[in-house]
Amino acid sequence: MQIIIAIDGHSSCGKSTLAKGLAKALHYAYLDTGAMYRAVTLYFLDHGVDYRDAAAVEQALKEIEIHFERIDGKNHTFLNGEDVEYKIREMRVSDLVSPVSTVSAVRRAMVAQQKAMGNRRGIVADGRDIGTVVFPDAELKIFLTADLDVRTSRRHLELASRGIDAEWDEIQENLQERDRIDSSRTDSPLRKADDAVIIDNTLLSEEDQLDKALELVRERLKAKLKH
Ligand code: DC
Repeated sequence: MQIIIAIDGHSSCGKSTLAKGLAKALHYAYLDTGAMYRAVTLYFLDHGVDYRDAAAVEQALKEIEIHFERIDGKNHTFLNGEDVEYKIREMRVSDLVSPVSTVSAVRRAMVAQQKAMGNRRGIVADGRDIGTVVFPDAELKIFLTADLDVRTSRRHLELASRGIDAEWDEIQENLQERDRIDSSRTDSPLRKADDAVIIDNTLLSEEDQLDKALELVRERLKAKLKH
């Protein structure tokens, strides 16, 4: 028996680390929905598509194909056949992805694809609207939070480890601005689902966080067995 696990939360609070850890431990599929919005944003940047131009967005969405492939055990995002896993993490994409994600046509296209990918259980998805919109019937919903300085340092380290040079202040501003836009947009804003469990991982190690989540998974599986 398998369940759907939905993880939402602010930018850079460790959602993907937790989601990947859970997927590995449970042998579930991992769905990185942020990567999809990032891939759309990369396409818009490279093709000069203005996200405020409804006709141009509509046309571009018809030309965009996104899928995931596992390479050396890691999840890679493909945009129209090209591996863009690293490009989509660049600051130029991070700076535009939140405005692009406010566009309803973009959200409709991404959510439809995400729902299709989750038509079987045994999936861990992370993003901003997973527990509220994409998988409202997920058996386990987690809302992750962490202190802003800790989140900035983690993102700084992550980018540095990929050879991407970005200032600490620039990263923090980007996180704050994305949180602001993601939480205040009209179409499916980031918010905790009523039935989500909050985990604040500011002082938790990756292992502690994973253990906590696995405990919740065991609870949910037990409850499902009883029904
Ligand atoms: O998880 P991430 O930082 O890679 O996500 C990048 C942006 O994509 C995020 O700032 C808002 C948008 N996003 C969204 O609107 N809905 C999702 N389910 C996932 C991401």
